[in-house]
Amino acid sequence: MEIKSICCIGAGYVGGPTMAVIALKCPDIKVTVVDINSDRIAAWNGPLENLPIYEKGLAEVVAIARGRNLFFSTKVDQSIEEAEMIFMAVNTPTKTEGEGAGMAADLSYVEACAKNIARVSKTDKIVVEKSTLPVRTAEKIKEILFEKSNGVHFEVLSNPEFLAEGTAIQDLFKSDRVLIGGDETETGKLSVQALVNIYSKWIPKEKILTTNVWSSELAKLASNAMLAQRISSINSLSVLCEKTGANIDELSKAIGMDHRIGSKFLKASVGFGGSCFQKDILNLVYLCRHYGLEEVAEYWHQVIKINDYQKNRFAQKIIDGLDGDLKGKKIAILGWAFKANTNDSRETPAKYVAFRLLEAGALLHVFDPMVEEDKIRIDLHDLYKNTGKSKDEIDFILKNIEIMETLEEAISEVKAICVLTEWEVFKNYDWDNRSNSKAKIFDGRRIISKTVANLDRI
Ligand code: UDX
Ligand code: UDX
Repeated sequence: MEIKSICCIGAGYVGGPTMAVIALKCPDIKVTVVDINSDRIAAWNGPLENLPIYEKGLAEVVAIARGRNLFFSTKVDQSIEEAEMIFMAVNTPTKTEGEGAGMAADLSYVEACAKNIARVSKTDKIVVEKSTLPVRTAEKIKEILFEKSNGVHFEVLSNPEFLAEGTAIQDLFKSDRVLIGGDETETGKLSVQALVNIYSKWIPKEKILTTNVWSSELAKLASNAMLAQRISSINSLSVLCEKTGANIDELSKAIGMDHRIGSKFLKASVGFGGSCFQKDILNLVYLCRHYGLEEVAEYWHQVIKINDYQKNRFAQKIIDGLDGDLKGKKIAILGWAFKANTNDSRETPAKYVAFRLLEAGALLHVFDPMVEEDKIRIDLHDLYKNTGKSKDEIDFILKNIEIMETLEEAISEVKAICVLTEWEVFKNYDWDNRSNSKAKIFDGRRIISKTVANLDRI
């Protein structure tokens, strides 16, 4: 089966770059990315330097494919109707209320999408889960599709994304593997093959793995859990290094040189952030509990607990380093993104550290080369909202934050400088000759040379 038209619902960090690359590599397929957020779609259709997502190489791909066979639109129904294959790349945040609150994934957007697909489809469709979803979600999607359909046939595939922000385009060009889960029925196999045909335009066949739907769904959660587990493992040892006088970078290097272990994802840090790790592990924990596997649930939950411990430990280090009293003291926060080379701040450790410092009475100077001021304020606003504070109370607290335009501006006149994101500009800064030499530096990413004066590292 050769697919000629694709629709992707959700023009976010996943849907946008993934579809741009599919369109680039498959010029014969019309790819339409739709979103209910009209501002986001307008930005995708606007100047290349202002695309809604910053990813290295993305603008170049969009420049070639946009208007040729790549389109961004708010006409959701029309695009669904016209497509043979529909990707769902909508967000699946952790539930904030109801059963499983704080743990399970909120599937309301995915379910709404499925209902919509069923309602408007007049011809058979292949529906592809791109969003990371709890295991056995495909079942639920199928139920919705068939219940609401008008005799149309749907196949549901799972095709999780493994791209990391900051390297998304590179990851899409040269994926370690592409995973496609489908039903083992005749039509299921044909649909899987249709998606294999698309990826094989640029991915070597041996890297395209086909499995049943549940293996594919679970493999995504497990991959992220394993990656996050490595970070929590190394972070759990960083505090032991401090106590014993060992050096965590030397430890990472020594451990990683064992080729059975490997060197990636062993960098000690203030903790992992991003839209996926925490959410996916919580999902896994919830799933284990659902099946009565308390010990397994607890095992994975520990990865999150160490991450929370690490963020708190770093904040406490700053508070203790300033003699336990932050009242009225100015502190620079360098970096807000959850990692370098992205403008994304979802679950960024920076906001949790900032929260603790604000609570202790500090005045913050925040500088990030990529994250916008509004986003920083919204992040903190949302965090405070969870504590039950009113909007006025929160606005009052947030008066204690100033967003700065440059690193120099951020660090002048502060008592402490905290590095929260490993941006190149922070790595390359001449810390030995900084203007504000009295300020203590707290490096949450271990990017500053240990010889620099007045430095403490995570
Ligand atoms: C999301 C999930 O967070 C992740 O788990 C999954 O692996 C892929 O999809 P991301 O692309 O980073 O990741 O999310 P986001 O940038 O929030 O984009 C989702 C988009 O879907 C938003 O632009 C939102 O407006 C859109 N959307 C959401 C719809 O178009 N329709 C809906 O019903 C809901
Ligand atoms: C992750 C997965 O890598 C990707 O495969 C999946 O599809 C989505 O989730 P992403 O969240 O974009 O990607 O970022 P990633 O590079 O995995 O980093 C996650 C967090 O871990 C960041 O906050 C990063 O700073 C931190 N990290 C990473 C460390 O603290 N130490 C490390 O050694 C590596």
